[in-house]
Amino acid sequence: MSKYSIAVVGGDGTGPEVVKEGLKVLKATASVCGFTYETVDYDIGGERYLKTNEILPDSVVEGLKRCDAIYLGAIGDPRVKPGILEKGILLKLRFTLDQYVNLRPVVLYDKRFCPLKDKKEEDIDFVVVRENTEGLYCGAGGFLKKGTKDEVAIQESINTYKGAERVIRFAFEYARRRNKRKKVTLCGKTNVLTYAFDLWERTFYAVAKEYPDIQADYAHVDATCMWMVKSPEWFDVIVTDNMFGDIITDLGAMIQGGMGIAAGGNINPQGVSMFEPIGGSAPKYTGKNVINPLAAICAVGMLLDQIGEQDAGQRIETAVKKVVKEKLESFSAGKMGYSTSEVGDLVAEYIKNEK
Ligand code: IPM
Ligand code: MN
Repeated sequence: MSKYSIAVVGGDGTGPEVVKEGLKVLKATASVCGFTYETVDYDIGGERYLKTNEILPDSVVEGLKRCDAIYLGAIGDPRVKPGILEKGILLKLRFTLDQYVNLRPVVLYDKRFCPLKDKKEEDIDFVVVRENTEGLYCGAGGFLKKGTKDEVAIQESINTYKGAERVIRFAFEYARRRNKRKKVTLCGKTNVLTYAFDLWERTFYAVAKEYPDIQADYAHVDATCMWMVKSPEWFDVIVTDNMFGDIITDLGAMIQGGMGIAAGGNINPQGVSMFEPIGGSAPKYTGKNVINPLAAICAVGMLLDQIGEQDAGQRIETAVKKVVKEKLESFSAGKMGYSTSEVGDLVAEYIKNEK
């Protein structure tokens, strides 16, 4: 029997509430699939920062480096100036742990929840592989003459061959493993960003040569947004840079029914990965037992898949799909027809009964 060590960061707002439901489902899955694990809680986020001025102590980073995976609720607190926690915790962890892939599945579990007219479940089933350590997110740049009428602000996008190559390769490997439409689309802006996406495009087609079984496709980012709404069925795996990936995955979340169901993984295939619902801390719903925990539950499924418990991950996906189809009235907070904890119970019960 394997014993995993899972670091848990509930974080801010509704983070701890949804993580609690994810852990309920993890427990049910472990008993059915026969693996064991321990959880180690880390108290970081807005509350700790306001109390102690600590953002991400080195001792926490050291602890996180030793675990098998990290399960994260949400980071972001309206009492803290935007950027401090996001950059100091979320981005710092992605960079320090070199989680160079941000994997975001876009899957429609039930067509009732799709805002697109006439789209069915089989039409929306793709993943976005977002580069997660470079681009505009590096923090390179600065101000000149700040606060004057001559002010200049420069924000540079850093793109390295190594960074593009490894994430593109991950996308092709993923398309092969998925074994669905067998297509990787590079989402870029080669008509304007003629340095950054020149590097991306050359690297993309060089890697594509090694995968003759996978179709290599290209779309500009603006057109990608259009096709995601008009013909999402064209996509299988989309690979893109950090900023474009951030933007198109919010659009992706909406076409699959909303933030309540959108999960993601910050993956270092050779190191420690971190899984989270991508929706944020939703402060106004905190403590009300109304937030949708399914994104956080799906994040547990992705976590298990990554650490080698693929059957467990699959069971969670199947259970979520069932609960969505048979029970839920909506994905939105307060409108699901069930409370946060009841939705967690439904998924956990389904998994226990499906031995
Ligand atoms: C996300 C979030 C983060 C990002 C923010 C909170 C820094 O929007 O995970 O998509 O931009 O990556
Ligand atoms: Mn985002």
